[in-house]
Amino acid sequence: MQLSEKIEESDLQVLRHARLPEKVGFGDIMLPIMTRARFRDGQWQTHELLPYQALSISPSCKGLHYGQVIFEGLKAYANLQSGGAIVFRMKDHWARMNQSAQHLLMPSIPQALFEESIKALVSRASTYIPAKKGDALYIRPFMFSSASGLGLSNNTDFDLYFIASPSEAYFTEPLDVLIERDQHRAFKGGTGMIKMAGNYGQIFASGQRAQAAGCGLSLWLDAETGRYVDEFSAMNFFALVDGVLKTPPLKGTILPGVTRASVIELARQQSVDGKSLEVQEVDIEIDALLANIESGRCTEVFASGTGATITPIQHLKEADGRSYRLPTWELSSAIKAQLQSIHHGITAPETAGWCTAISFIGSWI
Ligand SMILES: Cc1ncc(COP(=O)(O)O)c(C=O)c1O
Repeated sequence: MQLSEKIEESDLQVLRHARLPEKVGFGDIMLPIMTRARFRDGQWQTHELLPYQALSISPSCKGLHYGQVIFEGLKAYANLQSGGAIVFRMKDHWARMNQSAQHLLMPSIPQALFEESIKALVSRASTYIPAKKGDALYIRPFMFSSASGLGLSNNTDFDLYFIASPSEAYFTEPLDVLIERDQHRAFKGGTGMIKMAGNYGQIFASGQRAQAAGCGLSLWLDAETGRYVDEFSAMNFFALVDGVLKTPPLKGTILPGVTRASVIELARQQSVDGKSLEVQEVDIEIDALLANIESGRCTEVFASGTGATITPIQHLKEADGRSYRLPTWELSSAIKAQLQSIHHGITAPETAGWCTAISFIGSWI
């Protein structure tokens, strides 16, 4: 399906003359263009490049009422080596979006449609991609059921948008984390392993409690027993215990993070005393972990995700004020530096397919 360009000279002027502020924040400034694809009568029918604009949807739009809303988050980084941009692990984000779609009985997105949408935005976004290491253009694909009507029936109409926003590296300093003992994010047989909007509603109240305790993130535990670590607010969990890097396994309750997969690969390439670092995907019991922090066997805990890449954790905290201090963030800093270097085209990844180079088009570059 051909992408039809419906942007005006005035939109191009905005793109051409944009000047980003020194600090771009996260998700505050929007790229002035977006794409929209519509699924009707069993097939993708239109694919358009449009000015960024408000959506017109019916108040009875089923996505709004019944939660058929999925999204992704990936980044285009300034290629500091040879110009243009690099989109990190585009195919993996496409595959995960289709897993989310499949789980909620939404249409699958052809790879070409996903990639063309990203290329249409990124190739015109030279003035919106910060050149600073760690900063990027955050790309947010999202799809929802756009059919109107309040019947809880299977839906036929879906709209897929790609919007984008310059984003700076956030959570750059080590964070404290509140262990969430009361609420749970996901359960076996639920939707924890897909990226649907409904999964994020729990974060607000838990995040507020975390903030009140001086913490930047919550740590979710499993819903069945409350004994095992799932993941952070919206980032995956890693702990270095007895020199082994451990992360909870993908058993249906945590999101299979693209950064998590990258960290596992890069960690296995680290050499420790002449041997490669051992990485285990295993259940992590929270009370054993806290005991290991107290005894010094656990030396590092960190979070991984596209938004902040890697965030070292300084303290794990209980609501009653007990606090467990992590002494180092050596490994997480090393992996973060490696990832950043790959993101910005400074080093080539060992695995093919991680980086998609996109050149800028237009006379303003
Ligand atoms: C719930 C949740 N867990 C983990 C992650 C990290 O995933 P990724 O590394 O693919 O960004 C995210 C972010 O997308 C998330 O929303």
